[in-house]
Amino acid sequence: MKPMTEQNLKDAFCGESKAHMKYLAFADKAEKEGKPNLAKLFTAIAYAESVHAINHLKALDGLQESLANLDVAWGGEDFEIESMYPAYKVVAELEEEKKAIKSFNWALEAEKDHRDFYAQAKEAVKAGNDANVSNVYVCEVCGHTHVGDSAPEKCPICGVGSDKYRKF
Ligand SMILES: [Fe+2]
Ligand SMILES: [Fe+2]
Repeated sequence: MKPMTEQNLKDAFCGESKAHMKYLAFADKAEKEGKPNLAKLFTAIAYAESVHAINHLKALDGLQESLANLDVAWGGEDFEIESMYPAYKVVAELEEEKKAIKSFNWALEAEKDHRDFYAQAKEAVKAGNDANVSNVYVCEVCGHTHVGDSAPEKCPICGVGSDKYRKF
């Protein structure tokens, strides 16, 4: 692919991905304000932006078989754990940005589990099997991710109770 179009696809993928996430957050807010139709509009357009983002990813040949996708996923988590969040935390601490420190810290801790889950899934897929997961529980406050039969009684990262976990 010619380099300018490749860069443009990457930029468009980032932009559409960001719009998707922002609209979901806006939908949540609209729901809490008692505006379900506005929430629906934000949710639907968030989905449309995800369709655009995935189309751009496909055009970049960024969608492969699961074994290769797991490598990409593991690599992303590893980068966040080993380089990105530790560096971001240092800067946030230097600048005394309390909200950023907390947000980076929660993400950093949760990514460690994500990396482990992807490593385990990769072994299973390499052996020709599906990933060995029953239920997955995610803390809606900090993103702590737990695989098992039930949610943790208390989130080990942010301390909320099991009722704050979303089941997948
Ligand atoms: Fe992650
Ligand atoms: Fe949590």
